[in-house]
Amino acid sequence: MQTKTSHSLKPFISFTVFIALLVFTACKNEPKEEIVEQKVTAPVYGLIVDKAMVVSARAEASKIGKDILAKGGNAFDAMIATEMALAVAYPYAGNLGGGGFMVYRTQYGEIGSLDYREKAPIAAFKDMYLDEEGNVISALSKVGSLAVGVPGTIAGIFAVHEKMGSMPMEELLQPVIELAQKGYVVTQKQQGRFDAYAAVFDTVNGQKTLYSQGFKAGDTVKNIALAATLRAIQQNGRSEFYGGKTGIQLVDFLKKHDGIITIEDLEAYEAQWREPVVFDYKDLRIISMAPPSSGGVCLAQILKMIEPYDIKGYGHNSTKAIQVITEAERRAYADRSFYLGDPDFVKIPIDTLISEAYLNGRMDNFSFDLATKSSDLSHGEIPGYESSETTHYSIVDSFGNAIAVTTTLNGAFGSKLYSEELGFFLNNEMDDFSAKPGVPNMFGLLGAEANAVEPQKRMLSSMTPTLVEKDGEFWMSVGTPGGSTIITSVLQTILNVYEHEMTMQDAVNAPRFHHQWLPDMIMFEPNVFDSTVLENLKNFGYNVNQENSPVIGKVDGILVLPDGRLEGGADRRGDDTADGY
Ligand code: DON
Repeated sequence: MQTKTSHSLKPFISFTVFIALLVFTACKNEPKEEIVEQKVTAPVYGLIVDKAMVVSARAEASKIGKDILAKGGNAFDAMIATEMALAVAYPYAGNLGGGGFMVYRTQYGEIGSLDYREKAPIAAFKDMYLDEEGNVISALSKVGSLAVGVPGTIAGIFAVHEKMGSMPMEELLQPVIELAQKGYVVTQKQQGRFDAYAAVFDTVNGQKTLYSQGFKAGDTVKNIALAATLRAIQQNGRSEFYGGKTGIQLVDFLKKHDGIITIEDLEAYEAQWREPVVFDYKDLRIISMAPPSSGGVCLAQILKMIEPYDIKGYGHNSTKAIQVITEAERRAYADRSFYLGDPDFVKIPIDTLISEAYLNGRMDNFSFDLATKSSDLSHGEIPGYESSETTHYSIVDSFGNAIAVTTTLNGAFGSKLYSEELGFFLNNEMDDFSAKPGVPNMFGLLGAEANAVEPQKRMLSSMTPTLVEKDGEFWMSVGTPGGSTIITSVLQTILNVYEHEMTMQDAVNAPRFHHQWLPDMIMFEPNVFDSTVLENLKNFGYNVNQENSPVIGKVDGILVLPDGRLEGGADRRGDDTADGY
């Protein structure tokens, strides 16, 4: 079920076109004429199906979700099974010990979102990651028990089930339990991740655990402990995790590792239904995640700032397009670091932040002649305001319900703490708080008071599960992991399809870049951008970084084609797979 070229849609003919883009004639810096040789190949389509689809980071999870849809379950039923199947077959990010966000649009056009983000423990406090001199002890929020936020995923799936589910929870969890028992087969990419982290797992856990055994590609992993945990949840429901035997085992495990999460923390945890961020970009209506994710607000800010510019006319990944997008990103991330946090704790001027009046003003000092310096730019002034690893999946069912879900442990395998007894990793989401103003977190993001640690507060996220409507109808579901690069990857994927008329698969595959205000540089996926474009950007004063750029995002999405069929885009950067019927 991997992505395929659809020969039925267009014959696959490869040809080369030379396009001379003569730009910047009016610019002071006289960049090299941008004569870009663009190799234009016929579009590559992802899997195309008639009715219903799941695209996720693992074939097993997409299949389990698809089977639920084919049995007559809706997208919400499939979400529950897919989320749990990822916890089994993709322990890198799939989880019981983490949290996430879901954005939905029903077949009747109702929209909403669920926040099942982790929370700071009751015993957490503002300076908990500082030493006596007030310096950040970086590792404390990244590995081991103090990095762990109170998990929200199990509360999330039960909240979805209660409000939107149509099949019994027992039936939804059954195939997942069987997968944990029978095992899943390790892929080559997965072996690389296990190898890379095995030594850290042993240090953090003080013993060998399931995932430090040296599994190789082709091996089958059976997680019997996780099967038992899921069975207990299947039998006893949500309270099994938030106060029952599993919860007590979890708290005991964390206590043994000097953790501060108590049974009261678990009992107090609730997932929250929240109003999504909704805005227009040209004739699209975009529905994305509201705080405590910064995703929706930043995506809205960037798209509204670039809306007046001719992104399509400049050309995909051309100097001008990269300049406009970078400058909008710079300004949005500067606002993010100042204004955004948990809305249950801080007042966020969302309406102003995404208003045209405010955003036009933010771009006032943008010029094509010279890069803005991040050091010269701060958050915008709003009168009256006081002051990785993650995974995404998209599902569309045959009824017309669509969801976008991003779920995470934060870093790869979270805090690396792994409960052998319960069979899962615990998150290190506490690192998404700002441990101290001016000190970057693992994604280089800065924060202020709005995102300081407070008991029971949710840490600010960049996760951007997003749905897009066109002409009033559902058009696209999209999202990605990638920490701070999530927002800009979602942005580029939407632009690739809408402005550059790519297929969903091509849009997901296309090279990506990223700017986040600080550090002041554009990160590029290495060796895939035109060298003239990079040279021109340098001449305009941009810091171009191809060296340290990891993969920027791993996007999964579903697009409704003009004939009503669904096209999946499963990112080639991972083992991501579309499945459907
Ligand atoms: O919520 C967030 O923004 C981060 N915890 C996401 C982490 C992530 O995407 C890691 N994946 N590469």
